[in-house]
Amino acid sequence: MASIAQTTISPVKGSFNLSNYDCVRKSFDWEDASKELHFWESGKVNAAYETIDRHVVDGYGDKIALHYINENEKRSLTFSEVKEKTDHYGRILKQHGVKKGDRVFIFLPKTPECYISILAVIKIGAIAGPLFEAFMEDAVKDRINDCKGTVLITDKDLVQRVQRADIPSLETILFSEDIEATPVENDREEVVEWLGKEDGLIIHYTSGSTGKPKGVLHAHRSMIHHLQSGKWVLDIKDDDVYWCTSHPGWVTGSVYGLFAPWLNRATIVIQGGRFKAENWYQLMEDLKVTTWYSAPTAFRMLMSQGDLFKNYDLSSLRHILSVGEPLNPEVIHWAWNNLGLRIHDTWWMTETGGHLIVNLPAELIKPGSMGRPFPGITVGILDDEGNELPRGEVGQLAVRAPWPGLMKEIWGNKDKFDSYFKYEGWYSSGDLALQDEDGYVFFQGRSDDMINSAGERIGPFEVESKLIEHPAVAEAGVIGKPDALRGELVKAFITLRTGFQESEELLEEIRLFVRKNLSAHAAPREIEVMNELPKTKISGKILRRKLKEWEIQKVQ
Ligand code: PRX
Repeated sequence: MASIAQTTISPVKGSFNLSNYDCVRKSFDWEDASKELHFWESGKVNAAYETIDRHVVDGYGDKIALHYINENEKRSLTFSEVKEKTDHYGRILKQHGVKKGDRVFIFLPKTPECYISILAVIKIGAIAGPLFEAFMEDAVKDRINDCKGTVLITDKDLVQRVQRADIPSLETILFSEDIEATPVENDREEVVEWLGKEDGLIIHYTSGSTGKPKGVLHAHRSMIHHLQSGKWVLDIKDDDVYWCTSHPGWVTGSVYGLFAPWLNRATIVIQGGRFKAENWYQLMEDLKVTTWYSAPTAFRMLMSQGDLFKNYDLSSLRHILSVGEPLNPEVIHWAWNNLGLRIHDTWWMTETGGHLIVNLPAELIKPGSMGRPFPGITVGILDDEGNELPRGEVGQLAVRAPWPGLMKEIWGNKDKFDSYFKYEGWYSSGDLALQDEDGYVFFQGRSDDMINSAGERIGPFEVESKLIEHPAVAEAGVIGKPDALRGELVKAFITLRTGFQESEELLEEIRLFVRKNLSAHAAPREIEVMNELPKTKISGKILRRKLKEWEIQKVQ
């Protein structure tokens, strides 16, 4: 068995009732869990209704639904106000002919209007396609084209990155600055479109190791998973102020930034602007944040600021969670020794639609592990034939399918969808892991070439394709290079076309080319020029694995 750090940390702070968590582990059942939502009785499904309107109907209309904070702006909205705004946005979308099942994209910075737009789209039965605000022209275009989006909600700044002429399906662009003041023809019209559990909810594009990003479509049934994981893992209570730092263009930002907290009627924090340690701590002090969901890179950045946290009153904080990349034991110990709190790691993927491996608040944490399967979820570590391996052995991390949050389809790509289910009855994650005798799962890496930089999933193919569009680049191989802060950083190996000479200016130009056309997070931080790239003998495919081996040897 691989050696594992067995130091455990038990909970000391917060109002966690240990017996509750023990009980949920023993008796949890997805069927029973579904009954907590309105549609179980009525058969009427709409996630936007469950997220917002239901609370107004239940008498919580005056409760603060969100606090928005940006460098020069601060405002709050109640659940009633969010309901009215989503109704208004929904009516405007209907006026533009949006119908059930249409794909409506949302390309906005992290503002209340971004969240309201997503919910309005869902409310009228359309499928929301939220886009990360840092995406550049090609990233925006490829995603809208893939699932033939008809309407885009954006603002007058970001619209400059929308190449409308190259997106033939796009009929309408709406500006969030204008929607509020646009009159509706019929302000009494019923906005909520009642749907079936399998109807489309949201589509998130995500990278694999081959091809362009794929559209992962989730269905309305996912909200059962969102509600339950919000309750048990995020541990949302009525007086919580909950802050998830991810943008809703990523699945963490939609599922755990919007659906799960609001299904549990939490007050959420929406923070605009870039990462700055002082601003983050100040925000937590000012808004008295109780529950904070972020990623290891952000924790490592805060850790690198040393004692800065001592200048702030963080006494409201009671529960911290992490996702997206391996959470190093050092970070857990830092938070434990300095903030007096444990960081609860969670593991899941865009495709899984919700938490699958978690650390429930009252349970022991083994630093270095991602936790144990969520109640109602069964994990398997499989060999390459799909047989379960004994505890302690490293293999393919798989999960017994289905469960409520599991994706409905990969847009227009059944083969890709089927590839996740190559072992009968199992969903294969592509991650490698081991599970110890106590059920704790330890991440061991990816079984493919996917890159994870600062918790963001980057497909090498997409970056390579962009690199070779630059006139100086003949060939490119892109890998994740181990990095202490970001987990991995994007590194490109390239060969140059004849007539081009290597120079710092040229490499910077190539880097900016990817940054400008694709997105900042996918642009290579390092570019190395080679005379030739390693390739397979028969098909001549670039051997990323070899490039990675070289890079790891250099680091050691
Ligand atoms: O490799 C795993 C890594 O992120 C991948 C999923 O990426 P994405 O779909 O972008 O979703 C991110 C957030 C849901 C996984 O296949 N990953 C996710 N969580 C962890 C992780 N790696 C290590 N530890 C985690 N807790």
